[in-house]
Amino acid sequence: MIRAPRGTFDVLPADAARRRILEAHAERILGAAGYGRIETPTFEATELFARGVGEATDIVRKEMYTFDDGAGRSLTLRPEGTAPVCRAYIEHGMHKLPQPVKLWYLSSFFRAEAPQKGRYRQFWQVGAEAIGSAAPETDAEVIVLLADLLDAVGARGVRLRLSSLGTPETRTDYREELKQYLHAHEDRLSEDVRERIDQNPLRAFDATDRGTREVMRDAPVLLDRLEDGDAAHFFQVRELLDIAGVAVEIDPALVRGLDYYTRTVFEFESEVLGAQSGVGGGGRYDALIEQLDGPPTPACGFAAGVERMLLAAEEPAASAEQVDLFVALAKPDGASLGFELSRAARRAGLSAQLELAGRSLKGQLKHADRIGARYVAIVSDNGSVSLRDMSSGQQEELDAADVVRAVQRS
Ligand code: HAM
Repeated sequence: MIRAPRGTFDVLPADAARRRILEAHAERILGAAGYGRIETPTFEATELFARGVGEATDIVRKEMYTFDDGAGRSLTLRPEGTAPVCRAYIEHGMHKLPQPVKLWYLSSFFRAEAPQKGRYRQFWQVGAEAIGSAAPETDAEVIVLLADLLDAVGARGVRLRLSSLGTPETRTDYREELKQYLHAHEDRLSEDVRERIDQNPLRAFDATDRGTREVMRDAPVLLDRLEDGDAAHFFQVRELLDIAGVAVEIDPALVRGLDYYTRTVFEFESEVLGAQSGVGGGGRYDALIEQLDGPPTPACGFAAGVERMLLAAEEPAASAEQVDLFVALAKPDGASLGFELSRAARRAGLSAQLELAGRSLKGQLKHADRIGARYVAIVSDNGSVSLRDMSSGQQEELDAADVVRAVQRS
């Protein structure tokens, strides 16, 4: 038997219903805030992610599905949506539109991670990007929109961690300070962290081994080094969230797995998710568009994992889909009349299913009951139809032409 690749899954009809509801919430919440939907290609030039997400990140170093297109170009299945949306913003000259340009997406993404519950190699994200505004209100709005989405979906045990990374200059100075600190304590750090001190010292905050964690407890934190403008921006974001009644934990050690962030960063976690607790996150990325050869453009956004949101939400009570009419065949000869009848019913706006499995009449009635059909039209080969009301068991003889109206009237 050929199975789906490790870390991937099929979305079966029962799962699809929950995902459709989530999508409708996203559409409503983001649409009401002026976000338009965007869909970018599933694969992009590898360079987009190398430059956008950052060469030193885990995503670019070891999690990308990269392939040669057969003509010497390197392509990569998108591991995230922010860099592609920025590429589209630049490519379509969206800086000429009234700013900010607000875009949202619900798409699949690909990361070659070790699969476990809540962590897949193909997964879906709802994301939103507000491009062209530096106002702290934009950061707060983006966070509130994600909080509203999580609330609408019914995600349980959610908490929000927030921090600021400052501007690239502050970060450069701070990185030097942190590097020196890490070098001074090299002997207690894990090998992985030690190897990457000069490449990506911030990742040391993410380490899980005891030695590194102990060292990081006394490490200098960026929040204490913010320039006045960044500190004021951060203060305003916090104040706006406070006014909005969104509870926030300030976490100076909050590190995101992507290099493009400046100023605000945030992450929503759910305590019901276990190890993969990050349900959604994002932040501000004021330098990314310029880094991708666009005009200097401030921006911020979020992305939340569809599977993780659904895992964090309570399972809904199973609600059976309604079938208005099941068309049963007393004899196989009635098939063409039955075919016509089910089509006419659907064209009239009813949900209707035709017998397709060659069951006995008794078997067909049993099946109609199982799928929750309200009515069964039993078509006989002489063209007459008996319409059976499945809740009362009453049956009446009708002309085929009158069946649809009779079901509609009920
Ligand atoms: P991210 O934190 O890498 O951010 O991913 C966002 C969310 O996607 C995570 O919180 C998680 O719910 C989900 N996710 C990530 N990897 C997996 C996986 N392997 N399996 C299942 N779910 C996963 C970004 O992607 C940024 N582009 C967010 C952003 C938008 N920042 C600014 N704008």
